[in-house]
Amino acid sequence: TTALSGKHLLVTAGGTRERLDPVRFLTNDSSGKMGYAVATAAQQAGADVTLITAPTKLPVPSGVTVVPIESTQELADAVLTRLPAADGLVMAAAVADFQPVTAADQKIKKTTDNDELVLRLKKTPDILQAVAANKRPDQVVVGFAAETQNLLENGRQKLTKKHLDLLAANDVSRADIGFNGDNNQVTFLFADGHSDQTPVTSKRAIATTLISHVAEIFNQK
Ligand code: PMT
Repeated sequence: TTALSGKHLLVTAGGTRERLDPVRFLTNDSSGKMGYAVATAAQQAGADVTLITAPTKLPVPSGVTVVPIESTQELADAVLTRLPAADGLVMAAAVADFQPVTAADQKIKKTTDNDELVLRLKKTPDILQAVAANKRPDQVVVGFAAETQNLLENGRQKLTKKHLDLLAANDVSRADIGFNGDNNQVTFLFADGHSDQTPVTSKRAIATTLISHVAEIFNQK
């Protein structure tokens, strides 16, 4: 289809990695499947797609420009430098909320006096918050919310706080949806206050629905 032809969309995917030392990092369970499905659906809807991705095991979707990143800081830089030339952004990446205060230059060693090791973490930059501060009214920005409780309440708060046009809230406490698997269920929360829950279905189907909502929002701008 051509619902998004002429639009340049940035899509983020995967779990960011925060380095502890040259051989270790903190990350999360994201497989990248949700974000890759969004990138594919957007490309099939005629968009020019840039997929900014943390490391995953997935093949590169055809017809999509891929920008590899690892850390939240690298993801933030990649998104914020490309945002001015883009029409929209979908943040499906599972972004670390904390990073080590310092990354060790050398591999952290076991010694006789470190039976316990304390890691000091600091907050990562909030990418959507920074995007909100820089976005033009013609741009469409979509977030996800990964929640283990109070899905709709927390989702609504993120929609408002991050000035999003659309938010897809998913319950990541369930084994059959959310991280890693091929299926998901989301509640789409729209800026005008209405919401719409999908059934449990493939990430591909959810991505197609998400992209049709994005096309509608572009039409309303
Ligand atoms: O990759 P899969 O295995 O397919 O799993 C899909 C998924 C569960 C990872 C995906 O559907 C999902 O929910 N992605 C968002 C995960 C997340 O980081 O949620 P959050 O509620 O912590 O963050 C809210 C939003 O802010 C997200 O759009 C996130 O990308 C963004 N964020 C978060 C932290 C941060 N520092 N900057 C951000 O921009």
